[in-house]
Amino acid sequence: MSSLHERHVAVSPEWLALYYRHPLELTHGEGRHVWDADGRRYLDFFGGILTTMTAHALPEVTKAVSEQAGRIIHSSTLYLNRQMVELAERIATLSGIPDARVFFTTSGTEANDTALLLATAYRRSNQILAMRNSYHGRSFSAVAITGNKAWSTTSLSPLQTLYVHGGVRTRGPYAELSDAQFIKACVADLEDLLGHTRGAAALIAEPIQGVGGFTSPPDGLFAEFREVLNRHGILWISDEVQTGWGRTGEHFWGWQAHDRNGPPDMLTFAKGIGNGMSIGGVVARADVMNCLDANSISTFGGSPVTMAAGLANLTYLLEHDLQRNARRVGGLLIERLRAIGAAAECVREVRGRGLMIGIELVKPGTDEADPDAATAVLEAAREGGLLIGKGGGHNTSVLRIAPPLSLTIAEAEEGAEILAGALRSVG
Ligand SMILES: Cc1ncc(COP(=O)(O)O)c(C=O)c1O
Repeated sequence: MSSLHERHVAVSPEWLALYYRHPLELTHGEGRHVWDADGRRYLDFFGGILTTMTAHALPEVTKAVSEQAGRIIHSSTLYLNRQMVELAERIATLSGIPDARVFFTTSGTEANDTALLLATAYRRSNQILAMRNSYHGRSFSAVAITGNKAWSTTSLSPLQTLYVHGGVRTRGPYAELSDAQFIKACVADLEDLLGHTRGAAALIAEPIQGVGGFTSPPDGLFAEFREVLNRHGILWISDEVQTGWGRTGEHFWGWQAHDRNGPPDMLTFAKGIGNGMSIGGVVARADVMNCLDANSISTFGGSPVTMAAGLANLTYLLEHDLQRNARRVGGLLIERLRAIGAAAECVREVRGRGLMIGIELVKPGTDEADPDAATAVLEAAREGGLLIGKGGGHNTSVLRIAPPLSLTIAEAEEGAEILAGALRSVG
């Protein structure tokens, strides 16, 4: 009888990567912990890619899902759906976008695809500005705005994409500049780029690049970009798939670190809101959302069961002020990791905010990315009972730490201790 791993390999696409030399089967979870099929317990610092937002097996979400499933699982958007309207109302208010309309999808990819559809229709242009080192999803259109080689599965594209500087602060041509000079240089680059184009539709950007290794520009860059975009009538789409719902601690949305010139025209979300149930969506100004002149529908978008989960999850998040917890526990965790990193020769940088922390690894004494070290630390952390992620546009050499937002101080301490040991083990 083949192992589950062998069966997975035999039946799955080769490009569907698994973590670990001996891949894990996770069978259940509770709070910030998960268990594998052999009964071993792990502290979960990755939450299934920033998706288990509040906690594993949160009773409030489980109850909402099972009660709704017992009533009706699916009805479609052809009929009124109380849960969908209620969640849309709450997200519209939270978004900060005036006269906001919300459209639900089933993934972040589909959310961004919708935002691109809206922007290109609204502006009658297929030109998109995206950031270098970006990731926005796996569909044909989302891949067309991916500035990360490792995730660019095709160069064929329905869009003309122009890549802008600014997502990566400590590498690249502007790395040595001060924050103010960095912003100035990126704005000048954008102005120059626009001088060579004909009416781009939108700029899409992650406030903190997720797959790209938790990199971000100095606060305020996108507000400066906004001023330039406004002059050209170009829309700003903030991809909040990883940064939304208070994960960054200081802000509820990542764009709020760049709010001097108001909110974006569109915001996309997914991952954490459903705590694992498949919810994605777009919030847009009414005139942008309503610019399509034909029907559009997502059969599973806004399903009663996922919406019930989203409502229960969001209610828990807000009632327990998990944004504040992300700021407080994340602040302590990053300080602790910075101290650990300072003593480890392979650590180039510990960065991030809230519970979104990246540790970039290099070959000691150089600035050269070390993906092998990242893989080795991932394995060693697992051995120690801790699950983390990795990413980074420069050869996947960044450890990614993004636990559920209910993380306790004791758990943060425990995870940091395991990580310190894992880093020591690779030198
Ligand atoms: C910033 C960002 N946007 C979009 C996506 C795509 O979301 P999904 O995998 O739900 O399609 C991701 C996924 O990692 C992401 O990190």
